[in-house]
Amino acid sequence: MTIISEINESHNQDESLVYSLKQVSKTYKLGSNNVNALKKVSLDIKKGDFVSLEGPSGSGKSTLLQLLGALDSPTEGSIKFNESYLDKATSNVLTDIRARKLGFIFQQFNLIPTLNAIENVMIAMVPIKSTKQFRLKRAQELLEKVGLGERMNHLPSKLSGGEQQRVAIARALANSPEVLIGDEPTGNLDSETSAQVMELLGNLQKENSEVTIILATHNPEVSEYANTKIKLRSGQLAS
Ligand SMILES: Nc1ncnc2c1ncn2[C@@H]1O[C@H](COP(=O)(O)OP(=O)(O)OP(=O)(O)O)[C@@H](O)[C@H]1O
Ligand SMILES: [Mg+2]
Repeated sequence: MTIISEINESHNQDESLVYSLKQVSKTYKLGSNNVNALKKVSLDIKKGDFVSLEGPSGSGKSTLLQLLGALDSPTEGSIKFNESYLDKATSNVLTDIRARKLGFIFQQFNLIPTLNAIENVMIAMVPIKSTKQFRLKRAQELLEKVGLGERMNHLPSKLSGGEQQRVAIARALANSPEVLIGDEPTGNLDSETSAQVMELLGNLQKENSEVTIILATHNPEVSEYANTKIKLRSGQLAS
């Protein structure tokens, strides 16, 4: 018993891991029905890894990303992110982790329609202590990095889907996150634009090999970028 707990302890303290999940379940209550979206999932994610999350519709990909992104908490099990247990953390700690350590990209881009590209990126830096001047400079740098130097003052409605997703990537990178989480980030893009977005993410990771990228996708071309492929089926890891 002691030996096992010591092994678990040393496993938990592995500094090369950004996430360690043990027996994670998520049950949604839908009226009088329970939906078991994740069932006792245990997995580790290494720092700096590029991970794809695949599986049929309803297999639990978005649910797992919500848990990794500290946007929701598991019904059972533990989720260790660096030194913090997300399942035990207070909502203030979770908010702080989301703002400082995690960046999100979504299928629908989720830009604020009334703000231009640069303002959409700047707004992500509001939760961190920073001057407006710093936010402006950083947003400009990031938009240049994603190839939108010429489009900074455009509203989202004046940008193509691929350009909007690049603004969203710049926004996700604003606070230098340790983990970039994407839920079908190329789901609304044609295959050429999708390849450009994936190339951008791949290059960002090459530049900063500390960043961990975790993407849920239905697209086999997207999962080709991944070093580690996690497959889900009915809320469980598929072997
Ligand atoms: N908020 C919720 N309330 C109730 N059930 C939910 C909720 N969110 C997800 N579910 C259910 O949990 C299961 C897993 O859903 P999830 O969205 O994680 O799947 P997914 O793999 O992301 O699917 P897709 O590829 O269609 O995006 C599904 O059966 C879904 O209907
Ligand atoms: Mg989903």
